[in-house]
Amino acid sequence: MVSFTKLATSIVAITTCANAFTLNYALGFPGAPDRDAKPVPGDSPLQTCDTSDSQLLTLTKVDLSPNPPLRGENLTITAAGTLKESIEQGAYVDVDVTYGYIKLIHQTYDLCEQLPNVEMECPIKSGYQELTKQVQIPDEVPPGKYTVVARAYTEDDELITCLTAVVEFPPYGYAKIIDLFAY
Ligand SMILES: *[C@@H]1O[C@H](CO)[C@@H](O)[C@H](O)[C@H]1NC(C)=O
Repeated sequence: MVSFTKLATSIVAITTCANAFTLNYALGFPGAPDRDAKPVPGDSPLQTCDTSDSQLLTLTKVDLSPNPPLRGENLTITAAGTLKESIEQGAYVDVDVTYGYIKLIHQTYDLCEQLPNVEMECPIKSGYQELTKQVQIPDEVPPGKYTVVARAYTEDDELITCLTAVVEFPPYGYAKIIDLFAY
């Protein structure tokens, strides 16, 4: 769970440097399913959500390798986008992770504190930005369908980006089951 949080946070932090939102949070629907999600260009399960709201980050491309991510393997994330304004201290990100119908995580993170996870730091200048990051997907991720919704805001509650992804990990294979019961 902790590593999954980390993973979700990394993915979020990455994409976080990409779009902007208004005040959905103030409307009281953090993590509400999206009315108007649009696929992010590239090879990933990411979608931009709340697209009717203006966002500071426009993601031009996100690639995951492998796509979809595989349990127990390294995932390489490559992202590029354009920021309309710089990201300063005080920016935050609301993350919701749902496992099937169960809400696993509903948490707010300090964006600038998370950025070192993707080798970036605040302030992030406006303009074109790109990053590459490798993360290890833990072998212990339980099978099932995970939905991640992340909304990043500036300190003044301006929407930076709203991103969502559904990732499904298949049931454990035979080798893994033998492994689990080996002791
Ligand atoms: C993932 O990357 C780490 C660090 O580069 C490496 O030690 C590890 O063996 C890699 N794991 C797999 C499954 O490729």
